[in-house]
Amino acid sequence: MSPVDTSVKIGSLELENPFILGAGPPGISGASLKRFAATKPGAVVTKSIGVKPSPGQKLSLSHSELSEDSVMLTDPWSFKSFEEWIQKELSIAKEGGVPVIISLQAVTDTPADDIKRMAGLAEEAGVAAIELSAFGSSPNVVTGEGIGAVQDPKRTYAVARAAKETVTVPVIVKLLPEPSNLADLVKAAEDGGADAIASRDTIFPAISFDIYTKEPPLARNIGTWMPELSGRSIKEVALGYVVEIFRRTELPIIGLGGVARWQDAVEMVIAGATGIGVCSAAMTHGPDIFTELKEGLEAYLQDQDVTLDELRGTGLQGMERGNERGLTELLVEVDSDECTACGTCALVCPVQAPQQKDDVFWIDPSICVRCGFCVHYCPVSCIEVKS
Ligand SMILES: Cc1cc2nc3c(=O)[nH]c(=O)nc-3n(C[C@H](O)[C@H](O)[C@H](O)COP(=O)(O)O)c2cc1C
Repeated sequence: MSPVDTSVKIGSLELENPFILGAGPPGISGASLKRFAATKPGAVVTKSIGVKPSPGQKLSLSHSELSEDSVMLTDPWSFKSFEEWIQKELSIAKEGGVPVIISLQAVTDTPADDIKRMAGLAEEAGVAAIELSAFGSSPNVVTGEGIGAVQDPKRTYAVARAAKETVTVPVIVKLLPEPSNLADLVKAAEDGGADAIASRDTIFPAISFDIYTKEPPLARNIGTWMPELSGRSIKEVALGYVVEIFRRTELPIIGLGGVARWQDAVEMVIAGATGIGVCSAAMTHGPDIFTELKEGLEAYLQDQDVTLDELRGTGLQGMERGNERGLTELLVEVDSDECTACGTCALVCPVQAPQQKDDVFWIDPSICVRCGFCVHYCPVSCIEVKS
């Protein structure tokens, strides 16, 4: 296969490929980052590092009852101190030979001052970029109030500006967006001078219960806050936020949330992402996931004869085409040569439009409401929508 250019730029930082190990347990130490760097993602991000090391529980994860590659978690910030990272862990991570991005959070009352100090020292220690974790700019983290962190645009602006005033390496603002604050957060990141936006962090509150013990399977609560959800279970939501951010800014976006296969990565780019973050699936698959993702993405680009730049954001036009089709009457047709008369279409149809005749089904257009359920669920894909 001829080499395909998958390099991307995040501000002034050039990455050989768009894949970035997202902040989380794989970045818990320099040695772990080096292990993940072995399969050459474009960059690796540390676990979020606070002003002080996390005092309590180290890590708590659960996969129970969740779809593959999903994680339920309660995971505070790094239990290694910022000083340990600066003196030792970052240089071990850099031995991996890919750019190391430090994730910082300042869960204090003076976040801008803390970020200035930490960002400056991190740049001196040779990091390739500074990522500001959403939680670090969430006042709820300081007070422990509410049902979880809520990112505040004012604080987001303040920490972005503080980092930008201090360092020359790119500053990435990571978002924990909600529909009510997304536009304000994007503006805060832009006004603060951010070079890129990473979206998104986990989704919460999330919980599941063992039906006999009535307890959550493994994840523990932090204070009154419930666990978070990440990975495959949040993919569609994560893609939705990337689209909404892409509509609102020219800044490069690092899309995170549920990327486990190369197809997910392609979808992220179609949604508007420049970088593609992977955290949960890196945990469930190990470092080899980056080899699989890179090979799959390259083969797709070659097969489709498209570059990453050409592909980026094409989902917006795709959505427009879908909207236009939504306004026209759709015709749903069964290919009678392929129909096995299994009856799935009749089972899932909310209005009972599929009718059986001569051992095959046909869809009565006078009853059909064009919901597309039969098209989606037909096990032999013999039902088509024709516009
Ligand atoms: C166990 C765990 C710990 C995480 N810790 C952090 C963290 O310290 N800082 C941060 O910004 N994001 C953290 N994240 C969020 C991930 O970086 C990522 O944004 C999110 O999980 C969505 O991506 P994914 O579906 O690929 O995991 C963590 C995720 C998981 C699963």
